[in-house]
Amino acid sequence: MISQRYHLYTPEEQHTWFLLFERQLKAVEQFAYSNFLTGIQQLNFTASAIPDFDEVNKLLRNITGWSIYAVPGLIDNNYFFEKIFEKQFAATTWIRKPQNLDYLEEPDMFHDVFGHVPMLTDIYICDYLHGLSEIAKKYSTNEEVIEAIARLYWYTIEFGLVQEGEQLKIYGAGILSSIGETVYALSDTPAKVPFDVRKIIETPYIKDSFQKQYFVLKSMQQLKDCLPGLEKHFEKKYGRMTE
Ligand SMILES: [Fe+2]
Repeated sequence: MISQRYHLYTPEEQHTWFLLFERQLKAVEQFAYSNFLTGIQQLNFTASAIPDFDEVNKLLRNITGWSIYAVPGLIDNNYFFEKIFEKQFAATTWIRKPQNLDYLEEPDMFHDVFGHVPMLTDIYICDYLHGLSEIAKKYSTNEEVIEAIARLYWYTIEFGLVQEGEQLKIYGAGILSSIGETVYALSDTPAKVPFDVRKIIETPYIKDSFQKQYFVLKSMQQLKDCLPGLEKHFEKKYGRMTE
């Protein structure tokens, strides 16, 4: 495990965070799931400074008992879910270069911290993530199950939309941290289809362009509620696992 080494962020990197934060918060204010915006406030996220992981954790632990830990980049799915089981979420520490504000090959800390971490103040998201990790733990040696869980994670935690009152809102971090995808996802171009676990686990993910379709929850409660059925489906297909 690495540490954030906060003092090493340069003024240029702090300025990149400032630019991204200002622009993205304005873009999502009207369209983000309400608890995302509450989370930004509860965690004291502002444009003026890159969040310090130690400070974030003091607050986050008090809200939901979750915390974040620093990683150098993408990590293995099994390890990722093992840590999720311990209520710990991976966050990278590097931030994109100013000349690449809009394009990233791999998630950076703006995606991880701005996009994901406010959602860890939301109990529906926390319970769902933990439930997913319990299934992942039981089937850790079954690559097909891990892939199915990764797809479910992709189409919810990264690219999910939810109906909130009369409005369609964004809760997926992949959208919330991308200026282009924020506009695109809510436009009429991509399909919006009802959340459907069985359909999601049959749908490979798209990594090199915007999504062709977004799955829409009727409410956040649906996330956790889908897990018993999912586990039964795996039991039927692969046999019952006890650990
Ligand atoms: Fe992500």
